[in-house]
Amino acid sequence: MIEHQHWHPAALSADVAQTPVAARLLDTDLALWRDDTGAVHAWADRCPHRGARLSLGRVRDGQLECPYHGWRFGPSGHCEHVPALPAFAPPAGHCAQTHAAREAHGLVWVRLDAQAEGGPALPAFAAEGDARLRKLNCGPYDVAASAPRIVENFLDMAHFGFVHEGWLGARDAAAIESYAVQPTPTGLLATGCKAWQPQSNLHSTAPAQVEYTYEVTAPYAAVLTKVPDAASVAIDGWRESIALYICPVTPESSRVWFRLAVADFDTPDEKLRAFQHTIFTQDQPVLESQLPKRLPLDLHAELHTAADRASSAYRRHLRMAGITFGVC
Ligand code: FES
Ligand code: CO
Repeated sequence: MIEHQHWHPAALSADVAQTPVAARLLDTDLALWRDDTGAVHAWADRCPHRGARLSLGRVRDGQLECPYHGWRFGPSGHCEHVPALPAFAPPAGHCAQTHAAREAHGLVWVRLDAQAEGGPALPAFAAEGDARLRKLNCGPYDVAASAPRIVENFLDMAHFGFVHEGWLGARDAAAIESYAVQPTPTGLLATGCKAWQPQSNLHSTAPAQVEYTYEVTAPYAAVLTKVPDAASVAIDGWRESIALYICPVTPESSRVWFRLAVADFDTPDEKLRAFQHTIFTQDQPVLESQLPKRLPLDLHAELHTAADRASSAYRRHLRMAGITFGVC
């Protein structure tokens, strides 16, 4: 599966601390853990001895100890110690199955195909390096929807007036002006997307015309940037970028995080998260209702209008990229 060559988020960095954490990515069970140097590891959640879950074990002296017979595995995956045979030196083949793991955007990223050097890069987020924007994560949300359906919802402005009425839209101002979409190596870029929003962000003081840019940065990741009329916001120079990061857990269920980047260093984290939480929990029941749960890549399977240009381009991209997980 080509998806195995991509980096996917599997957990919040902060949640992988002293004890191993279980995660599931692309129908694969993982044990995530951190060694003494602080480096994070993503292994198959199965001990090569008798198949116990390594995520139930613990970290001792920088090694992962299996919960069953206490075999200890070093950061490379090699078994260093078998307590039942203290004098035994395990051969090179006594190894846990390892995957590639990295940290970025406040998350642990995993590439199941550990050999795929030179494969797709981690999804870019330009706001990450912008010191004028404060970053924080929101989630996880466990959603009974496929990852590609969630990406499409994120790219979609035509639902604002209905799903987010009174917040990101109004049913009487639901018309979508024409916007531009161009394919990119990672997906697409949509520009000039405009919406009239009653409460476009936490600091809105008045309804505003808001201009959006959307970028698909990986099969299951996207970024939006929104800039409202300056007069409608209580903070000077307000702008925000939001990255959507999805862990495709199974073809029909997902774990979702948002990385918020906002020109606001004063508001407490919880208040910033609460706005995003309100918006996403409006989306969630509709997302979970969509059938088929897997995104149809046959362009004739559902109906499209010019307002759906971004989602149509996304489907084309997935088809051309050979994505099979979460689509039909
Ligand atoms: Fe892991 Fe035996 S099953 S040590
Ligand atoms: Co929405």
